[in-house]
Amino acid sequence: MQKNVLILDFGSQYTQLIARRVRELNIYCEIHPFNKLPEDLSVFKAAILSGSPFSCRNPEAPKPDLTKIKGKIPLLGVCFGAQFMAHNYGGKVDSSNTREFGRANLSFIKDGELFFKNILEQSQVWMSHSDSIKDLPEHFTRIASTADVLNAAYKIDGEDTYGIQFHPEVYHSTDGAQLLENFLVKIAQVPQSWTPSAFVDMTVSELKEKIGTDKVILGLSGGVDSTVAATLLHKAIGKNLHCIFVNNGLLRKNEFDSVLDQYKDMGLNVKGVDATDRFMDALKGISDPEKKRKAIGNSFIEVFDDESSLVEDATFLAQGTIYPDVIESISVNGPSATIKSHHNVGGLPDFMKLKVVEPLRMLFKDEVRRVGAEMGIDQKLLGRHPFPGPGLAIRILGDITLEKVRVLQEVDAIFIDALREWHLYDKVWQAGAILLPVDSVGVMGDERTYEKVVALRAVESTDGMTADWVDLPHKFLQKVSNQIINRVKGVNRVVYDISSKPPATIEWE
Ligand code: XMP
Repeated sequence: MQKNVLILDFGSQYTQLIARRVRELNIYCEIHPFNKLPEDLSVFKAAILSGSPFSCRNPEAPKPDLTKIKGKIPLLGVCFGAQFMAHNYGGKVDSSNTREFGRANLSFIKDGELFFKNILEQSQVWMSHSDSIKDLPEHFTRIASTADVLNAAYKIDGEDTYGIQFHPEVYHSTDGAQLLENFLVKIAQVPQSWTPSAFVDMTVSELKEKIGTDKVILGLSGGVDSTVAATLLHKAIGKNLHCIFVNNGLLRKNEFDSVLDQYKDMGLNVKGVDATDRFMDALKGISDPEKKRKAIGNSFIEVFDDESSLVEDATFLAQGTIYPDVIESISVNGPSATIKSHHNVGGLPDFMKLKVVEPLRMLFKDEVRRVGAEMGIDQKLLGRHPFPGPGLAIRILGDITLEKVRVLQEVDAIFIDALREWHLYDKVWQAGAILLPVDSVGVMGDERTYEKVVALRAVESTDGMTADWVDLPHKFLQKVSNQIINRVKGVNRVVYDISSKPPATIEWE
């Protein structure tokens, strides 16, 4: 793996964003906690120090050891990173008495600085700090200011070490990408060779070497990550990759057959296992959402264990883990509450004793999609909305029966098909229908009816952590509602969920 850029994390909420912006320049980078430096630093061509929730004046603040980096390779301190260096090398950092949050404009840029090449005075930058560098140490030269922040950027004389008090990784810093490019490409001369096709070539050869002629088992879910992971492995080891796709009976309408066919068309060695009865038995009479998740998780493990034991001599288990999960678990702050236990439904028990292989563990979600597209995976599959592991079970409030699943599958299919027909599918991050445990009164002909209510939910989001409801056209909602009530027996009322997350969540359970 090409190493190239080291990002030292001091716990800022923006650290991942720095990495994404660097990758968008087709430059490979890795995030490491400031207190766990990689042993071999010689592989890195440049380093970036992230921001931090700490003030560098706080005795508890992170104190990185920069001796092996500063002055040896080009170094950029962002916000806390810049303030730390100024503070540590004899300057003065103090709490700022003017507002230094939000938009500002560069009012001064030192002439002839490669660091600001193609960036003009008045360029908008994004500030977010309550400390400010009041005095620069000796041998530090101011290279940019804003109206309120005199030392907005500096350079250390005789070194390629820079500090900036604004955030180039945030979109509101309009020339942020240009600035990172100036630093990484023009100054540090890092090659822009991190492309999806380079990643595929490199990963396939690494997988070949690591796995050899051994057998690998992988659980496909129909989602993007497991599909891309399987395709990479298939390229590397062909039929020695044994994929298992389990029907838990809680998938969307026709999903099991159509996705299975699609996998077969892709040449994957995949076995479809219809375990609907096993899951339904395990779920019988259970209404509590967490108990449902547990029942489904346990049944999955049982089915997967049974099936994988049929693959003789398998030594590896492949998983579609992606970079945000990895960063989260190794971050300065340690694994946070944002990793929810319920998202690990596919997690496997230790007793399986297989070595783990995770070909996507260094990729962000959008990179996974680009790698998938590079390998020719169908756009329709790559662009699919996220779908929860426990499937429709957490969209049927209360206990689960086959009949309720059937009703919800019909409703969901009408909604999702209509989103596609109206070209709204790709504008929505996730959508689905929820079957409510409510009987509502209605009239059909001369008769009163008591039938079920369904809620439709469509949200926009980037990562599922926050979300807002989508303002779908009223004509669209009207049409979908009519179709559902006319076609799906047992439903006489449709409502649309207009709650944002937080405080609501995306799923109802
Ligand atoms: P919430 O409801 O927490 O959902 O706002 C955020 C994202 O996570 C998905 N989700 C799950 N995914 N197992 C999963 O694999 C689950 O138990 C689960 N619960 C929620 C949800 O669909 C959304 O994308």
